[in-house]
Amino acid sequence: MSLAEDLDYGLFNEYINGFMVSKAMFTACELGVFDLLESEKFLTFDVIAERLGTNSQGMEQLLDICVTLKLLKVEMKREKALYQNTELATLYLTKSGPKSQYNMLLYMSKTTYSCWNHLTEAIREGKNQYMRTFGIPSDDLFEAIYRSEEELVKFMHGLHEIWSINGRDVLTAFDLSPFPLIYDLGGDFFRDPIPEADLYILARILHDWADDKCILLLTNIHQACKPGSGVLVVETLLDEDKRGPLTSQLYSMNMLVQAEGKERNPTEYRKIFTQAGFQDFQFKKTGKIYDAILARK
Ligand SMILES: C[S@@+](CC[C@H](N)C(=O)[O-])C[C@H]1O[C@@H](n2cnc3c(N)ncnc32)[C@H](O)[C@@H]1O
Repeated sequence: MSLAEDLDYGLFNEYINGFMVSKAMFTACELGVFDLLESEKFLTFDVIAERLGTNSQGMEQLLDICVTLKLLKVEMKREKALYQNTELATLYLTKSGPKSQYNMLLYMSKTTYSCWNHLTEAIREGKNQYMRTFGIPSDDLFEAIYRSEEELVKFMHGLHEIWSINGRDVLTAFDLSPFPLIYDLGGDFFRDPIPEADLYILARILHDWADDKCILLLTNIHQACKPGSGVLVVETLLDEDKRGPLTSQLYSMNMLVQAEGKERNPTEYRKIFTQAGFQDFQFKKTGKIYDAILARK
């Protein structure tokens, strides 16, 4: 094999195994490995297995994968491996970590991962996969996403967790001082009247919906507010040619699998906002997952 073939094969192999990497990290979280090692450092695999009620060989394999992934560190003492969290695990993977993504990972593991099992069907049919995955009709997206108290809590906590990482960037992307009354749009905005405000925040709302529903919502907002009012959209922006960034492309695909929408590029946002009567657009890429768009009436 040539060097180029070797390199290509390495990358190809990473793509093949990507889902196993995600699932190993999700599972370590779910079993409570990182939480246990946050309260008690330097434990052996058999102690960890016993405390978490798992098979010890399976646990040893999982822990050693986590070491390779730099989620755990290991120290040898009297020929025994003692495990502890890396900084990354303490920060993001423990329930109480300062930037914990615990609930989001659980949601990805249980809901998103299961829906993506039907990615082929989602692409064939052009619709989300709640029916096939969970036996839930998906004509009412609200009912499908918030199908139980447990699912609602996990999803809401998961959504909230990302703001500990990206919240400041999107809220400081523009000078919001001209907008004294700010309304963070949520709840059932297709049925309830839109209250009057100087600025409406639409965070991860428009990506759920096809263009016609977005235009309907934006038109309702346009009618509810005074000239000069603004809409701050928080979404992950696709490049103009839609061939990146990969995270935005994957999230866009996920909107097909789990919702009714897609992620958009700046031209597509400009188009739906213009049709709803807005003008004067500013786009700000934050360099993190979520970006900001400000439109004015
Ligand atoms: C993905 S969440 C975003 C929440 C929050 N803005 C954030 O960024 O964390 C989508 C929001 O749309 C609202 N929503 C309104 N009508 C909906 C519907 N028919 N189906 C799903 N979500 C709906 C939900 O209540 C929820 O607040």
